[in-house]
Amino acid sequence: MKRSFPSDFVIGTASSCYQVEGAAFASGREMTIWDEFVCVPGAIYAGENGNVSIDQYHRYKEDIALMKHFGFQSYRFSLSWGRIIRSDFSINKEGIAHYRSLAEELHKSGLTAVATLYHWDLPLYIQKKGGWENRETAYLFASYASTCFELLGDVIDMWITLNEPWCSVYQGYYYGEHAPGRVKDINAIGSVAHHLNLAHGLAVKAYRRTKLKAPIGISLNILSDKASGSVLDKEALETTQFDIDSGIFAYPVFKGYYPETLKNVGISIPIQEGDLKIISEKIDFYGLNYYHEDLIERSDEFPFSKKAPMYYDVTSMNWPIVPSGLKHLLEKMEAISGGVDVYVTENGAAFDDELTCDKRIHDKRRIEFIKAHLNACLDAISSGVHLKGYYLWTFIDNFEWAWGYSKRFGVIYTDYSTLERIPKDSAYYMMSINSERAID
Ligand code: GCO
Repeated sequence: MKRSFPSDFVIGTASSCYQVEGAAFASGREMTIWDEFVCVPGAIYAGENGNVSIDQYHRYKEDIALMKHFGFQSYRFSLSWGRIIRSDFSINKEGIAHYRSLAEELHKSGLTAVATLYHWDLPLYIQKKGGWENRETAYLFASYASTCFELLGDVIDMWITLNEPWCSVYQGYYYGEHAPGRVKDINAIGSVAHHLNLAHGLAVKAYRRTKLKAPIGISLNILSDKASGSVLDKEALETTQFDIDSGIFAYPVFKGYYPETLKNVGISIPIQEGDLKIISEKIDFYGLNYYHEDLIERSDEFPFSKKAPMYYDVTSMNWPIVPSGLKHLLEKMEAISGGVDVYVTENGAAFDDELTCDKRIHDKRRIEFIKAHLNACLDAISSGVHLKGYYLWTFIDNFEWAWGYSKRFGVIYTDYSTLERIPKDSAYYMMSINSERAID
């Protein structure tokens, strides 16, 4: 029997500016930490970069027409800080005009416009002054956010302050796989995380001073880690790991405190009086980005756990496919968030898609992946989670950060030699879900 989605459940698709826009040197865009990072030898697969990517900056009308064709109701994109605020802190009107046209085009096509203010592309002129290690960056973010609220507030239907601060902190300052590419800089972790949290809170506070009524929230990639069978005191390991990866954002945002664990593992937060009140300013919803669940065991080195062997089926990112993890996390977070509305703001999978000679992509595994995760969403709703929507990552194959163009997450295939967009079978699958508003 088919299962229907609640009538107010939104099915959309998500992307981020550096990954899809291209036009890296157009219209006065400032350089960002990613423009610099992609030039570091060995940082990106095959030395690739987002300079052109899928050129959505110029092709957004075509892409929105496709989104409409395949029945999506909403598009989550990110605004490029460096396209909006110049290095002398003046406003780049061309940048604003671009995002206004994008949002208007979405509305004309019947889709809502969901804007993420920060998806990892810090302007280089701010990084040069210490980036997220510098408290001042949080205030600069709030001022950039206020500009966006003022100049784009009438066309944006939902705001997301930050996307996955975990990646900015740990991928950027510990694992070195993302810009700015620092490795094992434990001293930076507490300050980068805290200033991101502060930036979020200051932006929400600024938003509340406007007359705007669209919901505002934050997207977190809450990590799902389960202690492997051989581990003693599983709960302690899982809690430590949760606090380091997710509690460092979720607790201050939802509950106004940092977990004790952080101190115990050597993360020191440069907190000032009043900060936690700002960070815990009430939000209207939060976004959960979920891709996989991992099995972990103890390790002597920070973050004091490592991946344990497991035998689940994996995607081409080597990420275990565990749809039940999504339901589990949604339930766990329901308690922490106090039952605020939640959207899955990212979920999807990369597989090694093959283009056939008749220009088809039979991506059966992606279809199964999406179906299983949408079912997990419906299960979570049945168990009482206030889940209001699902954003598929992603619509069109694009620049997958350190993996360059080698990993394809889209339901539309990109031929990178011509930038032709070719719908995969999964796009037609989404079309049927979107029209029937139900799944098997
Ligand atoms: C993330 C980001 C996206 C990625 C996607 C697939 O979750 O890492 O938000 O930018 O492209 O998740 O890895």
